[in-house]
Amino acid sequence: MKEVCAIVGGQWGDEGKGKLVDILAQKFDVIVRATGGANAGHTIYVGNQKFVFHLVPAGMLHPGKICVMGNGMVVHLPTLLEEIEILKKAGVKISGRLLLSDRAHLVFEYHKIIDQLQEEMKGSQKVGTTRRGIGPAYMDKTSRIGIRAGELKNFAAFVAHYRRNLASLKKMYEFSFNGDAELRAIKKISKMVLPLIADTSLYLANALSAKKSILLEGANGTLLDIDHGTFPYVTSSNASIGGIIAGSGIAPSRIVENIAIMKAYVTRVGSGPFPTELKDALGDKIREIGNEFGATTGRPRRCGWFDAVAAQYSMRVNGFSAINLTKVDVLSTLKKLKICTAYIYKGKKLAEFPADLSVLEQCRPHYIEMSGWQEDISSAKKFHQLPKNCMAYIKKLEKLIGCPIRYIGTGKRREEMIFRK
Ligand code: GDP
Ligand code: IMO
Ligand code: MG
Repeated sequence: MKEVCAIVGGQWGDEGKGKLVDILAQKFDVIVRATGGANAGHTIYVGNQKFVFHLVPAGMLHPGKICVMGNGMVVHLPTLLEEIEILKKAGVKISGRLLLSDRAHLVFEYHKIIDQLQEEMKGSQKVGTTRRGIGPAYMDKTSRIGIRAGELKNFAAFVAHYRRNLASLKKMYEFSFNGDAELRAIKKISKMVLPLIADTSLYLANALSAKKSILLEGANGTLLDIDHGTFPYVTSSNASIGGIIAGSGIAPSRIVENIAIMKAYVTRVGSGPFPTELKDALGDKIREIGNEFGATTGRPRRCGWFDAVAAQYSMRVNGFSAINLTKVDVLSTLKKLKICTAYIYKGKKLAEFPADLSVLEQCRPHYIEMSGWQEDISSAKKFHQLPKNCMAYIKKLEKLIGCPIRYIGTGKRREEMIFRK
C-alpha cells in the first residue's frame, strides 16, 4: 500500500469513514486521527459486534497496528478512558499500541458547560453541536490559553493552569463550577494517560523513515470545516485535508492517496443549510432504511438527495484521488433517484458553491432523475455484478464529481465493499 493515505469526510460527516479505515487498516502500519474530538462517532461492525470510536483511531481492532491521536485533536480524558475500557473488555490489546500527542489539547467539563451556554445564547441560530465541548476547547487553543496533554507531566503546573483558566472563563461566561472533582479524576486517569503521551509528529516522521505506511483517519466532514464548510454551522476545526495534515504533523508531500468518503445520498446532523434535504416521507424512509441516527448523540440525521454541486466543491478543496461511495445499498428499492447538478439562485444557475449562507439558504436544487434498482446488492463482490441502473448511477456521480469511485459500500459489514480498479 502507498506510504501515506488519507481518508476524508467529503460531505457533512457520518459518511462511513470508520468502515473504510477499519478495512484499509490491515494494510497499514500506523493509523492516525488528526482532528476533532469526541464529536466524532465512527462505527464498525465486525460479525455481530458493533464498535463506535470517538477518540481512539478506528484501526485499533487490528492487532499489532499502532494508533495515534494527533496534535490537532481535542481530547476529553474520561471519554478516552471509557473507550479504552470498552476495547479492553472486547479483548483488544491497548498496551504499546496507542499514542497521544503531547501537543493535543484537552477538553474539560467546563468546556461542555460553555458549549451548552453558547448554544442557549444563540437561540434559534444554534449550531446544534454535539455538546462535547469541542468549540470551547478549540477557542482556548486559538486564544492561546488551552491546556495540552504534555502538561500532565508536571501535575502541579497543570493544576495551576487549569485553575487559572477556569477562573477567567467563569468570569467571562458567568457560570458556577468547582473543578476539584475533575482534577481528582484527572489525577487518577493520568496514570493511564502518561505512558501514551509522545511527540507524535516526530514518531510519524521516524516511522516513515523506517518505511512504515500511515493511514490518516479524517473526522467530521469537509462541509463542516471551519473555513470551507457552511459557516457558522460547522465544527471548530479544519476537517478537510489541510487540517488533517496540520493535525498530524506529517509533511504534505508524503501524502500520495487522498480518499473521499461520500454517501450515495446526503445526511446532516444539527442546524444549517442543506439544499437537497427531503423533509417528507421519502426523507423519513431513507433515514429508516439507512438507520440514520447519530453515532455520538443518537439524533435523527436529516436526509436528502446526492448533491453533486457540494461534492464538486469538496473535490476542489481536497483534491481527492479516489472516492468511497457508501450506503449504495440503502437506495435499493427506490423507483427514481435524483441528483442535484446545479443550484438555482434567484432564477439563475450559480457557478460555484456559495460562501454566503443567505445565498445557500435560498438556492433551489436543479435535479436530474435516474431510474433506481430493486435488487439486493449486498452480495455483489464486483462492480459488474451490480444492477445495470446501479452501475449507471455510480458512473453518473463519478462523471459529475470528476473523480474515480474506487470503493463501493454495499452494506455495513467489513465484507460489504466492492473494490474497483
Ligand atoms: P463515520 O462517522 O463517517 O465513520 O460514519 P458513522 O459511523 O457515523 O455513520 C455511518 C453509518 O453507516 C455507520 O452505522 C456504518 O456502519 C454504516 N455504513 C457505512 N458504510 C455503509 C454501507 O455501505 N452500507 C450500509 N448500509 N451502512 C454503511
Ligand atoms: P463524524 O466524524 C456528523 C456537527 C454537529 C454540529 C456541528 C458542530 O462522526 O463524521 P461540534 O460538536 O463539532 O461543535 O458540532 O458539527 N458534527 C458532526 N456531524 N458527524 C460528525 O463527526 C460530526 N462532528 C460534528 O452535529 O452540527
Ligand atoms: Mg459519525
